[in-house]
Amino acid sequence: FSVENTRNFSIIAHVDHGKSTLADRLLELTGTIDKTKNNKQVLDKLQVERERGITVKAQTASLFYNCDGKQYLLNLIDTPGHVDFSYEVSRSLSACQGVLLVVDANEGIQAQTVANFFLAFEAQLSVIPVINKIDLKNADPARVEKQIEKVFDIPSDECIKISAKLGTNIERVLQAVIERIPPGVIANVALFDGVVSKGDKIISAYTKKTYEVNEVGVLNPNEQPTHKLYAGQVGYLIAGMKDVTEAQIGDTLYLHKQPVEPLPGFKSAKPMVFAGMYPIDQSEYNNLKSAVEKLTINDSSVTVHRDSSLALGAGWRLGFLGLLHMEVFNQRLEQEYNASVILTTPTVPYKAVLSSAKLIKEYREKEITIINPAQFPDKSKVTEYLEPVILGTIITPDEYTGKVMMLCQARRAVQKNMMYIDQNRVMLKYLFPLNEIVVDFYDSLKSLSSGYASFDYEDAGYQTAELVKMDILLNGNHVEELVTIVHKDKAHSVGKAICERLKDSLPRQLFEIAIQAAIGSKIIARETVKAYRKNVLAKCYGGDITRKMKLLKRQAEGKKKLRKIGNIEVPKDAFIKVLRTQ
Ligand code: GTP
Repeated sequence: FSVENTRNFSIIAHVDHGKSTLADRLLELTGTIDKTKNNKQVLDKLQVERERGITVKAQTASLFYNCDGKQYLLNLIDTPGHVDFSYEVSRSLSACQGVLLVVDANEGIQAQTVANFFLAFEAQLSVIPVINKIDLKNADPARVEKQIEKVFDIPSDECIKISAKLGTNIERVLQAVIERIPPGVIANVALFDGVVSKGDKIISAYTKKTYEVNEVGVLNPNEQPTHKLYAGQVGYLIAGMKDVTEAQIGDTLYLHKQPVEPLPGFKSAKPMVFAGMYPIDQSEYNNLKSAVEKLTINDSSVTVHRDSSLALGAGWRLGFLGLLHMEVFNQRLEQEYNASVILTTPTVPYKAVLSSAKLIKEYREKEITIINPAQFPDKSKVTEYLEPVILGTIITPDEYTGKVMMLCQARRAVQKNMMYIDQNRVMLKYLFPLNEIVVDFYDSLKSLSSGYASFDYEDAGYQTAELVKMDILLNGNHVEELVTIVHKDKAHSVGKAICERLKDSLPRQLFEIAIQAAIGSKIIARETVKAYRKNVLAKCYGGDITRKMKLLKRQAEGKKKLRKIGNIEVPKDAFIKVLRTQ
């Protein structure tokens, strides 16, 4: 296939707006899959993806389509729908020249529709709006057209109205792909040194393949061919790359006879959420280790550091792109590797700016990133602490606006924008501290809006934050595994919650136990577990000696699973209950 007859495109959509169903119809119509077989959602391959109905890893399908007597090769590059995977989305989009933006005719534009549109827009792709589910009884495609015009500035006559379920107007979608998306693998390039012109032989540092340059030009904003591209220019290059995966973002291309060191490229995915992971039973450590290794080969966006906890044993500190990513990883471990694990409450990567040259030399960095609360540097060493922030987009029916705003305020969010996208739907933009949304923000938002509000976010860097390290004490002894980093304003409520949870899960002992949350030497919350005399031999009436021995042995075995803090015995279960998510 020549470049002119090739199109590379993706489908982007909010969750459940019908991306996979549309992909299935396109594959059927082009004869790529057999209609008679029940090939529902062929692109979604992983079990988690099928179960959760979400897409995690990108897949590609090649479709052959005849139009006006010409045969076209249409490469459909699948993209994950969820915000956690926006890195995968951008990577998939970098291989495309256009996208189908699918919007549900009933629900209209949702938060991920906006986020995905802007990823495509920033990548300068042609966007074809597709309004899906027009067969639904309460479908209102006219309203959705207006929203698309208002929010994305795309004229409403460019919208294609379809029902992916019934197969209505699918052919029109394929025609639009051919007509509105520019052809072929066109690599956007920035020239760092020298000149490149048509006919030059170039090598990709990534694929190691040699290509002949067919065309070079500048983006104006559409492709405008030029004779040459010079150092300092940004433009495009067509070089007979057959497969879009050959045009990798961040790759270095160099002239055939002048090899160079590849430039630092390939922006790697940045984990936003960290959690400890431990085998439920330490004897499972090696099995779990090999499962984690296998899974991370497939998913390089998970970062892995070995870690250990006095209570939970040997394990790892894992970094994920977001909470859903963490859940998906956990679910895959359980389903595909039969592993059962303890995941601790997630934390975000905080930073501390060191205050003296001596410390900077010691840490070899000016700013240190703290992914484990135990490594939180003392205030005396630091000029300021920083916390990661995100820009969140919420779209909600206006009757819930008040409640949504209250929720955002309670999460220390700052409003940046508010706009009606139609008569009764509001789009709100807030700057959130990331740690305020990692645990249960999404669930709270859904429940207060009866499921109608949608949420998406993008990375917005770091902001100064008054962070403190909170210790948990049992009768004055520090419990290392429960050290937490919290914002000063939240310390009291978080401390109280941990003390209460610990009180509920600590068995009574022979003496009273004071559970305290403290910042430095200041106690900010306290609970008490009353004393209780547990006499395992009480039932034996001094009689049967073997029975007595058995009971004593059993109690000794039980103790192995305990950790001693001072003279207090804390069962592993108690830690799990306090540390675990939820
Ligand atoms: P993610 O992979 O999570 O992004 O979801 P998706 O966008 O791929 O959505 P999917 O295709 O799985 O469709 C979601 C639901 O909408 C499914 O129950 C589909 O059967 C249904 N659906 C898709 N298209 C149509 C349509 O045209 N009409 C109706 N009535 N339902 C549809």
